[in-house]
Amino acid sequence: MKGIILAGGSGSRLFPITKVYSKQLAIIYDKPLIYYPLSVLMLGGIKEILIISNENTIPLYRQLFGTGSHLGLSIEYALQEAPRGIAESFIIGEKFINGDNVALILGDNIFYGSLNFFYNSLQNNKGATIFGYRVNDPQRYGIVEFDKEGTAISIEEKPELPKSNFAVPGIYVYNNEVIKISKNLKPSARGELEITDVNREYLKRGQLKVEKIGRGVSWLDTGTPEALLQASNFFGVIEQRQGLKVGCIEEIAFRMEFISRNDFESLVNSLPKCSYREYLERLLKDS
Ligand code: G1P
Repeated sequence: MKGIILAGGSGSRLFPITKVYSKQLAIIYDKPLIYYPLSVLMLGGIKEILIISNENTIPLYRQLFGTGSHLGLSIEYALQEAPRGIAESFIIGEKFINGDNVALILGDNIFYGSLNFFYNSLQNNKGATIFGYRVNDPQRYGIVEFDKEGTAISIEEKPELPKSNFAVPGIYVYNNEVIKISKNLKPSARGELEITDVNREYLKRGQLKVEKIGRGVSWLDTGTPEALLQASNFFGVIEQRQGLKVGCIEEIAFRMEFISRNDFESLVNSLPKCSYREYLERLLKDS
């Protein structure tokens, strides 16, 4: 299973935060936003990851993660020249995916709680597996409609009159067919290759599984300055209460045994003196 993080976009709604680089580098409490989706892929056991972004931001991601080898990962980077839609990821990433299955997570989607719904789908996916999460503002998302048996019967992108309150979050699992399907898409009215059209094609083929995510999971929005502040406060409260970090990629690399204790120790020693390092030093001592 390969992993893709789509971390580009124009981010115009967050100007001027996004004037210089894409919003996935904005800060959520004590780390860049992209750490959160990256950590979800890592917790799913995915080690081969492609980060897709724009020209300005790719060099910054390289600075942040390099080849990923210090985390036991192999991280590659690819350019999306213009925000031409989520489904373009699979065309850009064709060589990287290379016949494999692929999990895509949007670089601005934050999930917190028990993520078994995702980990299980990595094992069990046949065609496509996507998810449904209840939201209050369904006009803003891809919306899935279920029949009485709980089977998905339609999906619409940002409908004016939503048929349900179940939004499709930015985390998707596909078999290799997704590349061909994406190549056959026509751009939507907003000029994008829509992920919703990919999902509709799987639905048409009877190969789409839509799983509802339970209310114990948090899917946080990061689309506005208020949402960024709320997400920062949310993780600030949790981290301070528990003394545990969320989305700490060095910790996850160690706990998932992507790197040895020795490698973890060198990694910790390479960090500047700061509370993030102290946290990892404590982990090392307790391990
Ligand atoms: C995109 C997708 C939408 C999905 C959402 C999740 O919306 O098109 O189906 O529900 O991500 O974050 P966009 O970010 O393009 O508004």
